[in-house]
Amino acid sequence: MKTEKDLKKIVKDKYSKIATQDKTVNASSCCGSTNSTNKVYSIMMEDYSETNGYVEDADLGLGCGLPTQFAKIEEGDTVIDLGSGAGNDCFVARHETGRFGKVIGVDFTSEMINKARTNAEKLGYNNVEFREGDIDNMPVNDNVADVIVSNCVLNLVPNKSKVINEIFRVLKPGGHFSISDIVLVGELPKVLRDDAEMYVGCVAGAIQKNEYLNHIKEAGFKNITIQKEKIISIPEDILITYLSKDEIKEYVSGEVGIFSITVYAEKLGNFKQKPNLKLSELESNSTSCCSSETNCC
Ligand SMILES: C[S@@+](CC[C@H](N)C(=O)[O-])C[C@H]1O[C@@H](n2cnc3c(N)ncnc32)[C@H](O)[C@@H]1O
Repeated sequence: MKTEKDLKKIVKDKYSKIATQDKTVNASSCCGSTNSTNKVYSIMMEDYSETNGYVEDADLGLGCGLPTQFAKIEEGDTVIDLGSGAGNDCFVARHETGRFGKVIGVDFTSEMINKARTNAEKLGYNNVEFREGDIDNMPVNDNVADVIVSNCVLNLVPNKSKVINEIFRVLKPGGHFSISDIVLVGELPKVLRDDAEMYVGCVAGAIQKNEYLNHIKEAGFKNITIQKEKIISIPEDILITYLSKDEIKEYVSGEVGIFSITVYAEKLGNFKQKPNLKLSELESNSTSCCSSETNCC
């Protein structure tokens, strides 16, 4: 039985490798290699390339939805992206917030943070910041965010209710989230549930859809809505590495469903205020907000 610490280490190791290998290696291992994990990523991923604010270098093909498309981000908003990777959703969110908003990406893999910071620097964005930290204990003050997004990350976190309580803490009253993630209906075969590659590939760490929605409700969120739901099928050539032919038949014809969902919820209240706060008020580890681009000081 793996501990929380073991699971986090497996996840960090995997994503630091993904961050440091060339994007073409990631892409080529998606199609046709024996690396089943990357195949799982590619079957979940949505096409971002037509999205406003899209930055190719930040898209490592690791998402399972388009949360920013549903997140109702407004100009001037402060947005936090949980498990920001190379910054894919942060840059799309930046397009919506504009230069007077603020986007904070949080990720615990330092190689991902480095990659995301390099991408932000290349774009000259000084209102997109990446903080290294665990999303179950976020390096962010209370009541800071108007909107939270996340793409295919909570399934990787062992203690999901802890993250959801953290989301409640850092959202302003009146704020909301749109999160894309993987959930299950029915039990996965034990061999898939126990496999480390299936864990880092966003399948084995997923919990039951009802349980997921209950955690959100128990944290105090209201108006919980599923904005999008898509079934994910694991191709037979991946299943064959785990199951016999008879077990595959049983699995495919059975009741188990793997779903990518985008879920929305609100923290009720009336704290949303514009114009935006000064950066020093937003940050626990603050940096200056003075810049020629924002003129915000
Ligand atoms: C499947 S990738 C998704 C990356 C990004 N959201 C995207 O769509 O490109 C998962 C990311 O979540 C990060 N992650 C996983 N568990 C985390 C945790 N507990 N705290 C912070 N980041 C975490 C990983 O380092 C990785 O960058």
